[in-house]
Amino acid sequence: MGRLPLLDVRGLGKQFVRRRFWRTPTVTRAVEDVSFDVREGESFGLVGESGSGKTTTARCILRLTRPTTGDVRFDGESIYSMSRPRLRTLRRAMQPVFQDPYSSLDPRRTVGQSVAEPLVVHQIGTPQSRRARVAELLDLVGLDPAHDGRRPDELSGGQRQRIALARALALGPKLLVLDEPVSALDASVAAQIVNLLLRLRADLNLAMLFITHDLRLIRHLTTRVAVMRAGRIVESATTAALFATPRHPYTYELLSAAGLHDGRTPAPDPGQDGSNHGADDDRVLPLREVDPAHWARV
Ligand SMILES: Nc1ncnc2c1ncn2[C@@H]1O[C@H](COP(=O)(O)OP(=O)(O)OP(=O)(O)O)[C@@H](O)[C@H]1O
Ligand SMILES: [Mg+2]
Repeated sequence: MGRLPLLDVRGLGKQFVRRRFWRTPTVTRAVEDVSFDVREGESFGLVGESGSGKTTTARCILRLTRPTTGDVRFDGESIYSMSRPRLRTLRRAMQPVFQDPYSSLDPRRTVGQSVAEPLVVHQIGTPQSRRARVAELLDLVGLDPAHDGRRPDELSGGQRQRIALARALALGPKLLVLDEPVSALDASVAAQIVNLLLRLRADLNLAMLFITHDLRLIRHLTTRVAVMRAGRIVESATTAALFATPRHPYTYELLSAAGLHDGRTPAPDPGQDGSNHGADDDRVLPLREVDPAHWARV
């Protein structure tokens, strides 16, 4: 596994301002001062409850929305100041996978057309070589290449997510940004997709930014993790350290609620006045290195 930061997110912030007639505009601070990096071939997890700012962070990284503050660097270069040719390269190197493969696949297209589309758009290969590549990609994600003539509505949710993955892999990306990729699937199907992701990561040396509210998936799939609450990272560490010794009371709470700490780990010290549980406290407390490479707002 390489040590280069492939993706470098620095001080990212995103506010949504809602203006209403006669009223003072309301401001939602969806993401505040979020920093982390993902190295080559690494699987990094972003975990947090609904509304904590995970998808907004992903959308900034994918350049689907512009952050209010901060920067995102890919391979050392700011993605917001890239030239058009560099942007095309970025689009190949970084691919999204979303929760709902049904909405990301065109219902009128066959599987083969959907998987080939990125190759067509980027003018890669001939129709013939593209067909061969599609068969290879379908095989890679565990689908019978004979599926290439089917349409999305003839397929199960798991099969659709495999196709979304094949499409994402078509251009040989270095990084997948996966936002709740298995949340819409039944448990057994989700487990199959998770195993597929593990295999792909190993076989293709793919880096993954894995976004979910599900701590079990994080434990299974990632090597480092950041926990978000109310737009901020409250704790970040190797996955092993975070599960073994959570240092932020909120992380401990999440692990407890999911039945995921071993019961031997004592709850972190909530602070002298017992008050550093609240999101307000995260605003004033900086991320502190509590153990080597283990950071928490405590
Ligand atoms: N386009 C938007 N306009 C206004 N507010 C938004 C917009 N997108 C997100 N928000 C708000 O930003 C906050 C973070 O939302 P976000 O979707 O990033 O959270 P999330 O962690 O992905 O949640 P979930 O687990 O439910 O997907 C929420 O308060 C949300 O209502
Ligand atoms: Mg989301």
